[in-house]
Amino acid sequence: NQSGSLYDRIGPDALAALVERFYARVALDPDLAPIFPADLTQTAEKQLAFLTGFLGGPPLYHQRYGHPRLRARHLPHAVTPARGRAWLACMNAALRETPGIAPADARELYAALSRVAAHMVNTPG
Ligand code: HEM
Repeated sequence: NQSGSLYDRIGPDALAALVERFYARVALDPDLAPIFPADLTQTAEKQLAFLTGFLGGPPLYHQRYGHPRLRARHLPHAVTPARGRAWLACMNAALRETPGIAPADARELYAALSRVAAHMVNTPG
């Protein structure tokens, strides 16, 4: 399925598993945990909806919550360069430990998320 979207190649089950592993790591990260809610259930649900559309699947986030306006939604949170790196480190680790994501797809997803993460940084270190 190399010609389909990243969403088609990864599939909904592996994507959900990835998001679950990602927030398990966020909850344990000393830089990230303090700016996230203690209960990450809704955050994870929104992220799964966002990534589904971002990777070329159905636009679930738009349907449920409207335009993501991601940079604006992050402005209330101090996203420093260190937190950007911590976020990407959690994602990289989650990608490696989620079964069913081919290494080439993991690299492509990570590269795309690196660009979005750089755009979310809103506070100097
Ligand atoms: C929400 C931090 C990067 C997508 C949030 C929230 C925080 C946060 C604190 C609020 C959680 C909540 O109240 O539920 C960060 C940090 C990042 C980062 C430190 C480091 C650069 C990203 C990236 C994406 C993303 C790269 C997209 C791939 C989202 C989404 C939400 C969210 C979809 C939910 C928005 C909503 O409330 O509807 N993020 N984020 N974030 N973030 Fe990030």
